[in-house]
Amino acid sequence: MNSVNHKNFCLTKDEIWHIREKIYHSQHDGYFVFRGFLDARITDHLINYWVKLLDPPSTHKLFPGKKNAFHPNCPSYYAQNKKNDLKVFYNPLWSNRHEIVSNEVAFSIIQLRAQIEGKAFTREIIPVVGQRCVIPRLIITKNGKNILMPHSDYSLDEPDSKNIDLARVQATLFLSEIDQDYSGSGFIFTKNNGQKIECERALKIKPGDLLVWRYNNVHEISDISSSSDQIGFVRMLFPPESITRSNGLGNFLDMGKNILRKCKRKFL
Ligand SMILES: [Fe+2]
Repeated sequence: MNSVNHKNFCLTKDEIWHIREKIYHSQHDGYFVFRGFLDARITDHLINYWVKLLDPPSTHKLFPGKKNAFHPNCPSYYAQNKKNDLKVFYNPLWSNRHEIVSNEVAFSIIQLRAQIEGKAFTREIIPVVGQRCVIPRLIITKNGKNILMPHSDYSLDEPDSKNIDLARVQATLFLSEIDQDYSGSGFIFTKNNGQKIECERALKIKPGDLLVWRYNNVHEISDISSSSDQIGFVRMLFPPESITRSNGLGNFLDMGKNILRKCKRKFL
């Protein structure tokens, strides 16, 4: 396979066939690793910015919870759980105007994933009310137990049948290294044959590697620990989120603007 990275992510037909077989075939793994998807220079930049330099309140709004958080023109959000040493940054492509490299990296991964899934990449980068749109997420986990309980997404047990999609894949971009920057289980993935693997050690994951995995296979993070001078488990994910209508205040302001516009038309 030709080298696939954040600058060169167009797959040939043969490559798509090979990757799909690894991910979807019942006797194969359920995942595929793009090694060195980011070079060290870009990985170091992302770690520097998101882990060391960023002052979240100056660029991000506090995450209001998933209900109605994501709407057209919504801001970038951050969530923090001091008890678990967890930080999450939600960076909608239209609102992350402060860190463009993350946007470019996210675009390349969304396009790569769309080729594997066989879906148009443009369908989930524009926020349309009632549809899904990818909201790139950067997560820093320093300490905790049962961080992500075992679960699957888009699988046959989804209560709403329109959320079932067995072709869906998710991508984890690893930005730090297990046993250097953190210890614990790391990301645990259940392969197509039911065998569980601790991905970082089993697959010898390095910072900058991209793991593309079948979304409806069970996945979890049982425990992570890091000392005060370690950066922790740092990763990017690309979840397609439901886009809802604008929040109440936004609607109210829009309504006010429309009334003013109409009055202006009438009297001028
Ligand atoms: Fe999940």
